[in-house]
Amino acid sequence: MDIIVFKLGGSILAKLPNSFFETLVKVKQDYKCQPVIVHGGGPEITEALNKWNVKSTFVNGLRVTTADVLHVAEMVLSGSLNKQIVANIQRAGGSGIGLSGVDGSLLTTKPLDSKLGFVGEVSSVNNNMLNMVINQDSIPVISPIGIDADGQKYNINADMAAAAIAIALKGKLAFISDVPGVMEEKSSGSYVYPELTKSKIKELIQIGVITGGMIPKVQSALSVLEAGVSEAVILNGCQPADVTQYIQGNPVGTKVVHEEAYYV
Ligand SMILES: Nc1ncnc2c1ncn2[C@@H]1O[C@H](COP(=O)(O)OP(=O)(O)OP(=O)(O)O)[C@@H](O)[C@H]1O
Ligand SMILES: [Mg+2]
Repeated sequence: MDIIVFKLGGSILAKLPNSFFETLVKVKQDYKCQPVIVHGGGPEITEALNKWNVKSTFVNGLRVTTADVLHVAEMVLSGSLNKQIVANIQRAGGSGIGLSGVDGSLLTTKPLDSKLGFVGEVSSVNNNMLNMVINQDSIPVISPIGIDADGQKYNINADMAAAAIAIALKGKLAFISDVPGVMEEKSSGSYVYPELTKSKIKELIQIGVITGGMIPKVQSALSVLEAGVSEAVILNGCQPADVTQYIQGNPVGTKVVHEEAYYV
């Protein structure tokens, strides 16, 4: 049975309808796929940082993470948001088990770039633990805080964490965000790309069509394809029908595909 890693954007969490979680619980109960959730928390982290007067900046869509920022990000991600998603799954009749990348060294991490502070990239994923949760008929709900061998914790961009988990589990990857896919404003209106390849993504970043938080998302999508995962798609969580369509195998949102697939 296919594992599908659903990355829930922080931008969408508060807006996700109950039907989204009901759909995930149902597909698991019907053995259609095994959902795994990885979540972000951008807006909630920003709100908490403002409340505590902690300054933060972004470089290419990644939050520069000082020790203070890390502390707040962990509280928000592994605390209230993670448990809210677990609660939503259980309200929908399923069982959710919340874990951060710290628990059982689920996500071992190394620094991504010294300019970004405690921002990490995943070096390994504890698959055994995830499979244990999946096989207990529960949906794992993972917050993207990782840990290194010295016990230092890191903030991981949730798109990158989701990609590492999809690669480790050989699962598909669906980014659930607050936009219908990768869009471009044209004179005729806003256009959603149904498919994107690496070269087109590079071009759209260069000309400034893909910016901010969409950059780590498309790059993470490309990394899973390069690792041999069959697909990565960007979907709008505000339209639950899109999620159902996707699970049924219908084209929806923006699919990131290999160059050759584009031309057949
Ligand atoms: N070409 C584009 N098409 C669509 N959205 C784009 C594009 N370029 C930039 N974006 C921005 O990317 C955002 C989605 O990324 P963002 O990081 O904000 O959300 P997320 O990843 O879903 O949430 P989080 O980072 O909290 O997990 C959109 O809301 C939009 O503002
Ligand atoms: Mg993001």
